[in-house]
Formats: sequence, structure tokens, C-alpha cells
Amino acid sequence: MESIRLSLFIVLVSSLLPQLAFCRTRHYTFNIVQHNVTRLCNTKSVISVNGMFPGPRLVAREGDRVIVRVINHVTNNVTIHWHGIRQLRSGWADGPAYVTQCPIQTGNTYTYNFTITGQRGTLFYHAHISWLRATLHGPIIILPRRNESYPFKKPYKEVPIIFGEWWNVDPEAVINQALQTGSGPNVSDAYTINGFPGPLYNCSSKGNSSDTFKLKVKPGKTYLLRLINAAMNDELFFSIANHSLTIVEADAVYVKPFVTRVLLITPGQTMNVLLKTKSYYPTATFLMAARPYFTGQGTFDNSTVAGFLEYEHPSNHISNTRYKVLRPNLPPINATGFVFNFTNKFRSLNNPKYTANVPQTVDKKFYFTVGLGTSPCPQNATCQGPNGSKFAAAVNNVSFVLPTTALLQAYFFKNSNGVYTTDFPTNPPHPFNYTGTPPNNTRVSNGTHLVVLPFNTSVELVLQDTSILGAESHPLHLHGYNFFVVGQGFGNYDPNKDPANFNLVDPVERNTIGVPSGGWVAIRFLADNPGVWFMHCHFEVHTSWGLRMGWIVLDGPLTSQKLPPPPSDLPNC
Ligand code: C2O
Ligand code: CU
Repeated sequence: MESIRLSLFIVLVSSLLPQLAFCRTRHYTFNIVQHNVTRLCNTKSVISVNGMFPGPRLVAREGDRVIVRVINHVTNNVTIHWHGIRQLRSGWADGPAYVTQCPIQTGNTYTYNFTITGQRGTLFYHAHISWLRATLHGPIIILPRRNESYPFKKPYKEVPIIFGEWWNVDPEAVINQALQTGSGPNVSDAYTINGFPGPLYNCSSKGNSSDTFKLKVKPGKTYLLRLINAAMNDELFFSIANHSLTIVEADAVYVKPFVTRVLLITPGQTMNVLLKTKSYYPTATFLMAARPYFTGQGTFDNSTVAGFLEYEHPSNHISNTRYKVLRPNLPPINATGFVFNFTNKFRSLNNPKYTANVPQTVDKKFYFTVGLGTSPCPQNATCQGPNGSKFAAAVNNVSFVLPTTALLQAYFFKNSNGVYTTDFPTNPPHPFNYTGTPPNNTRVSNGTHLVVLPFNTSVELVLQDTSILGAESHPLHLHGYNFFVVGQGFGNYDPNKDPANFNLVDPVERNTIGVPSGGWVAIRFLADNPGVWFMHCHFEVHTSWGLRMGWIVLDGPLTSQKLPPPPSDLPNC
């Protein structure tokens, strides 16, 4: 009996120990600095982490604690968001300005401290104030625990591929001017891959090869590409000439692998894909290229970013510059059908090891419209938005106004008076045919309204696109949670018919999902993380116009279900 007990004890300890023993604390220092960067034959000053554009890699294993000291050396106020990190009971480290924290002012420091729990794959960090994230972003690489492996063949090499968007002018000036005049902001001058626009832009093609990202590969190997869309306002199609890609992970959750020639990635989404190289040295160089998916009415940057996939010969003197360059085929700009089918292919692994804990029952249902609208032009001003008004955007017709203090602080210290109210509408305030002919009155209301959810509420949220000022896909991002994408469709959501087709078995688990252009998407999540959580369109222009709102998730009864008090260095407004 005693020996059975002892061996049981040993089995228990040895099965628990590896998990505990291998978790580390990873320390980083992020200096926010200004430095010069030259792209498209144009030099300008950008704000970045440690003088790097894109920023340095943040590498950790599942289970690790991450401590990042952020020191602001620039004149702008700064915050950093760890996009997709669940921040379980560490909401103070989430980062959106005026939501979970006041900005870090010039010369000041704030230390972000969080633990990565139950996530593995690729995420990214970015500034979360105004449009600073244009140049202030970088990859988060979450490796499996030391004693664990990928649920797919170990790749030969791993390569982050970050998509970005480049303006020849200061992006802060672009959004400030747009908000002043009420017009759409000037579109970007280029897209970038790992910071480089590539050979299809005017300046780059003049033999300026330093403007191009090159991926050098060996034949017969498998490469893991960690894709991140850090672009500001554009969903992107991506493809590599003559190669297919196997998608294995999305938003730091493994998915059932599937093969595709072309993929779509929205701002805020991340994806791990396997690239198997050819078994021989091909006599060609392959372009990897990305260009936008767009269905709206406004203008957009209709250009194509490209990098080279080059097979590196062991004997260096066989130069591949003489090789022909093959270009991939990308779908038409408005290929909504492709996007819908592609989005539908994502499925959770849902095996005993990686389960999909989809809420099977729902405590609270929400129906939110997302889309554009207008605000009246101030008296004695002229505006350049629709019919002399100003562009706006809203959720359930509320254009969200950020307060001048942080919502989480106001909530935690019970100072909500004059900061926010808890009456965010559960349903559209004025029902109409959302995807039909838009109403004559397109005016939004303004306010700082939040939804309050008791701890462990099981939530179903249907996000409905509107056709006001043009139907358009909106990549909606929820902070502090992953959600399950249980259904999507075109037209208006039908609460009587559509739930019958929901996937409650193996839906994909993500933190950002594109609301289909002229359609809807249904998501479910369990509100088990106390705090104040931002939800917004990851098109920066739509967020600036007010397509954002917030959820308060209350503490649970146990200590382990309560949000701890803020760290002592939390910035003041
Ligand atoms: Cu990546 Cu609130 O955003
Ligand atoms: Cu949007």
C-alpha cells in the first residue's frame, strides 16, 4: 500500500514538475526612439522600438512570464499592446491608451508584466495610441513548452513575415488632418514585407535591391512562416509563385492543417504556415506578393508588395540573378467569394490535447451593427466628408469616445462618474435593412458606453456589417479573449434560421475576425477574464472614427477570479 502511494506520488510529481520547472521569466527593454528610415527613395523619421523597423522579436515559451520595460524617449505619448495575449488577470498590462492605462509620457517608463497561458504560435506587439503602430510593431513568437513539440513536422527554419504599410509622410499628420477635415485619410504609398516595399514600386525597381525582402531557402526543406498583418487599413491577399502553403495555426491557436495557394490575412490577424521547398534547385526566382482585398467606396492603396524566394546554391558563383522571376496570381481586389470560402476553412484542432471549449449554451446574446456613418460638420467649418459632413464609424450607431483618463482605472477605483456609462445597446437602436439600401439619416451618436458582464457569462455576439457609405469587411478584434467563430453569412443575420447552422464542434478560435462585407459573423466566448476589454475594428481609420467599444468583465467570487490592483508604476494621465 505504502509503495503504491509512493509511486503514485512520484508519477504525480514528475508529471507536474516539467511544466513548472521549465517556465522562465523573460526580460526585455524597449526603448521607444525616433530614427531615420529610407524607403521608396524617401527618408523620414519614424518612431520604433530600439531603432528597429519592424521592431525586435519577443520570444517566449508557453507558460513563461514576460517583463518588458518600456522607456519613452520620444515627444509623443506611447503605449504598447501585446496583441492577442490573453492577459489573464493582468489587464493592467494590456496597453490600449485610455482603456487600460494612461499613456507613457515623454521620459517616463512603464513595465508590462504578464504570463503567457495556453497559447502557442505567433502574435505581435504594437503601439496602441493614435496611428503610432504604423512603425511601432514587432513579432511575438510563442514556442511550445520545452518538453513539447509542434503538432506538425518540426520545420527546418522559422521566419517571421510581417506585412506593414508605409507612408512617405508622417502617419500622425495623415490621421490628424483627416480627423480635422472629416475626409478619408490619405492612403499609404506602399505595403511592406518585413519593412521592405519590394521591386514593384517605382523607386525600388531602379536596381535598389536593399528595398526588397529576400527569403533564401534550401531545397527539400520545410520552413515555418510566421505571418503577421501589421498593416493599418488593409486586408491582404498573399501568395508565393509556384508554391503552396499549409496553414497550421491562427492567432496563436493550432488549426486543422489545410493547403492553399493564396491566403487572406486581415490587420490584427497572425498565421503560421508551412512552406515546403522544391526538392531540386529550380532555375527561377519566385516572387512572394501581397495586395489588398477591398470592397468599400473610398480610395485605397492599390499597390503590390513583393519579396523574393530564392533557392541558394551551395556554390555561390552560380548567381540566380539571371533567372527568370515568376509572379504569383492574386485574386481580384473585391474577391469576396474567395474570402468567405477561405475564412470558412479554418477549424480548431479539437483533439484531446488541444480541445475547443466552445460555449454550448449562451447566457447573454448581443447583436451589434458595425459600419460607417457621419457626424455633422462643426459650425463655421467646412468639412470634406460625405455631403459636407464628417466621416464617422460606429458599433450599434454609437461612435465611441475615448475618455481622458483610463477606463480600467475608473472602473477599479469606482470613479466612473463622468467617465463612462454602462448602457451600451445590446441591439441596434433603430433597426433597418442593414445590408439593403442605406437609410437617409446616417448620423451616429457619440458616447463612452460599456457593456457589463458578470464573471463567467457565456456570450454570443453577432457582428452585422452595414451598407452605410459602402459595405465593407471589418476585422473586429477583441482584447483579453479568444472567441470561437461559430457562423457567418451574407445579408442580414436571421436569429430564427441561422443558429441551426452554427458549428459548435470545431470552430476556429481567434482574436480577430473579418465581418464579411455585406454580411455577418457570430462569435462566442466565456467571460472568464476580469477587467475592461476593448473591442474595435483593426482598420486604424475606422477605429479613429469610433468603431470601438468596451466590455467590463466583473470579478468572480474567488481570489483567483479577481483583477489584482494596478502596478505602482501605472502611468497617470
Ligand atoms: Cu491590435 Cu486594440 O489592437
Ligand atoms: Cu472597420
